[in-house]
This record gives sequence, C-alpha cells and structure tokens, in this order.
Amino acid sequence: MVGVSQNTLAFWVSVISLAISLFSSVSADPDMLQDVCVADLASGVKVNGFACKATFNETDFFSDILAKPGLTNNSMGSLVTGANVMKIPGLNTLGVSISRIDYAPGGLNPPHTHPRATEMVFVLEGQLDVGFITTANVLVSKSIKKGEIFVFPRGLVHFQKNNGEVPAAVIAAFNSQLPGTQSIATTLFASNPTVPNNVLTMAFQVGTKEVEKIKSRLAPKK
Ligand SMILES: *[C@@H]1O[C@H](CO)[C@@H](O)[C@H](O)[C@H]1NC(C)=O
Ligand SMILES: *[C@@H]1O[C@H](CO)[C@@H](O)[C@H](O)[C@H]1NC(C)=O
Repeated sequence: MVGVSQNTLAFWVSVISLAISLFSSVSADPDMLQDVCVADLASGVKVNGFACKATFNETDFFSDILAKPGLTNNSMGSLVTGANVMKIPGLNTLGVSISRIDYAPGGLNPPHTHPRATEMVFVLEGQLDVGFITTANVLVSKSIKKGEIFVFPRGLVHFQKNNGEVPAAVIAAFNSQLPGTQSIATTLFASNPTVPNNVLTMAFQVGTKEVEKIKSRLAPKK
C-alpha cells in the first residue's frame, strides 16, 4: 500500500510540475506583486521591467498619442505608434499595451515578430491583407476590413498590407507592457554591426551584390 501511495504521489507531483511548466511557458509578462508600480524610466536600478516611482499621479496612466493618425510618408507607407510602458509609465508590471498602426494606400507593415506578446488587431478604417507564418512554415492569412479582428500568436512572423485605395488604420493589443519588435529585413540587413555578407549570401542563396543592394536600401537614414 505504501508503495502504491508513493507512486500515486510521484504521479501527481509530475502532473503538477508539468502543468506549472506548461503554464509558465505560455504566460507572457510576469504577474504583478502590488497594485501599481509606475515605471521610473530614469532610474539607474536594473530590474525585470522598471523600478517603481516613489510618487505618481493620473498623468502616469494617461496618453493621447493614439488620437491622431501617424505620418505614413516613409518607404514602407506605414507607421506604428506604440502606447506602451515607455509612453505610459503606469503600465509597468501590468502586462498589457496597445499600438495604433496607420497605412497609406499600398502601405506595408513589413514581416516582424514580437518576442514577448501575442497581438490582436482591430481595424479602425480601411482594409488589410494580413498573415502570420507558423514554425511549420504554414502561412495563415486573411483579408480584413473595418470592425474586424485578427490575431497574431506570440513570437510568430507576421505582416499587414493595405491593398486598398484609401488609408487604413488598426488598434493593436498586446499582452506585454513592452512587446518588442524584430523586423526581419532590418534585423538581418541593417543591424549594427552588420551581419557578415557571407552569412546572408548563403542563407538567402544569392550573391554579394544583391546582399549589398538590400543593405544599402535598408540602411538607417542619416
Ligand atoms: C503629476 O506628476 C508630474 C511629475 O511626475 C508633474 O509634473 C505633474 O504636474 C503632476 N500632475 C498633476 C495633475 O498633479
Ligand atoms: C512627412 O510629412 C511631414 C509633414 O507633412 C514632414 O514634416 C516630413 O518631413 C515628411 N517625412 C518624409 C520622410 O518625407
């Protein structure tokens, strides 16, 4: 009987630890330990997130930066405006943020990933062709229009393109105070220092000339 109950105990311990490890691997930002922890963005103290300000007021929980459309007169024809902890210090430890993305006709929010968040977009105006690619290399894509929602799972490469003739805009919600963005093309072709040409020529199966052309096109404007 003792042997049986020890086996049963071992069974439940392994089930519970599996459940805990599954839970922690799918959760995003860590949970908060107090009501508020308004970010002290100027603090020299390094923690996971930001140190808390000693005093705060309503302005730390407010922003109007998404009220107006962002300027889309750039090479991609799109602009992401983030309302995250860098702009709203009160979001520190709360695990959420939003962005507004504006797209000129033909504008593209180029393929990118958010290492720390799943994203949901809600179309405010216009229409978009959107998609993400799974780790099995399957493209999951759809055309969406005003009032509709699409979800981009955490960490997966995704994009939005305005193939309409009028501007488009979305509100994007994230389960992180600072989702982080890695834009695939600029990550690989415009990093500092640069990724060696012989890595990129082999990875993309093209010549040095093509790699250098892309690097010069994507180089940060000085
Ligand atoms: C809120 O605090 C900031 C300093 O963090 C201060 O500049 C601002 O005047 C305060 N606002 C109000 C309404 O008290
Ligand atoms: C975009 O337009 C704004 C205002 O119309 C202007 O100030 C800015 O220089 C333009 N940017 C580019 C990259 O053309």
